[in-house]
Amino acid sequence: MPWIIDADPGIDDAAAIITCLRLGCDVVALSIVHGNSPLENTLLNALRLKELIGSAVPVYAGCPRAILEPRRNAGEIHGQDGMGDLQWEPVQSKAEAKHAVDMIIEQSHLHPGNLSILAVGPLTNLAVALVKDSTLAQRIKELVLMGGTSGARGNTTIVGEFNFAADPEAAAIVLEAGIPITLVPWETCLENLVTLEQLQTGGTEALENPVAETFLAMTAELLDRTENVLGYRGFLLCDLLAAALVMDPLVVTEAVDVFAAVETNGTYGRGLTAIDYAKLSGEQPNVNLVLGVDTDRVAALLRQALIA
Ligand code: RIB
Ligand code: CA
Repeated sequence: MPWIIDADPGIDDAAAIITCLRLGCDVVALSIVHGNSPLENTLLNALRLKELIGSAVPVYAGCPRAILEPRRNAGEIHGQDGMGDLQWEPVQSKAEAKHAVDMIIEQSHLHPGNLSILAVGPLTNLAVALVKDSTLAQRIKELVLMGGTSGARGNTTIVGEFNFAADPEAAAIVLEAGIPITLVPWETCLENLVTLEQLQTGGTEALENPVAETFLAMTAELLDRTENVLGYRGFLLCDLLAAALVMDPLVVTEAVDVFAAVETNGTYGRGLTAIDYAKLSGEQPNVNLVLGVDTDRVAALLRQALIA
């Protein structure tokens, strides 16, 4: 089944991309978006990852900014280059000429009703594609998203998680599109860190390879930052959780079908994931909200990808 990965690499995006590509997911394209770092960085990081793992996956540049929201980046987490500020060799590969929005629409015609999208950054590319082609939604099989919150615990605004807060209009458009959505929210990521010990289960020798060593170098500061912010050490790899459930649906231990929408108005509420747990809206559920995952299974998938 063909997948597009839409991402803003990003350290945890890197974990997701490496895992999907190295464990045999049928990824037909990477579409890259603004987010953790400006598009020029996230695009360069996608090409770096492609070369690091020796993948031929085509990489497409998407939208450099949100539909309305002023620019938001997360350099304090992902580094100034968006992926750990390592010393990288110059990339040899180039992005495709076609815009990611046009690629998404084109792929939906090539795989009508069978194309799925793993989206782990701001949803600008997908939203613009949905606006450009009003029939696109009917050709998309499913979306797996990392984004939003399950209890309004923001990480970017008081109530906004980064991917939704960086482009609330885009998130609203995607959640309203009528495409089956599995959503991994911020709180689920906070409660399900992957630890270094879990990654090392089975021995550390296998992690002595360029891909694993580069990834662990990227995440080095992330461990310290996570401990400083959360008080315990672990890899806060949000996007990996979404990728893991694409690769192994048994990763999910708890989920609930709910109606969810994204607030685009309000001083404090803009970017909020409004969730109708009590079924008060009369709306049909549009999201399968992931509330629990098996971190041992997640860690095993990442380890398998790093030592492949
Ligand atoms: O809030 C976490 C999300 O924002 C992750 O996708 C991370 O990569 C950033 O994009
Ligand atoms: Ca991301």
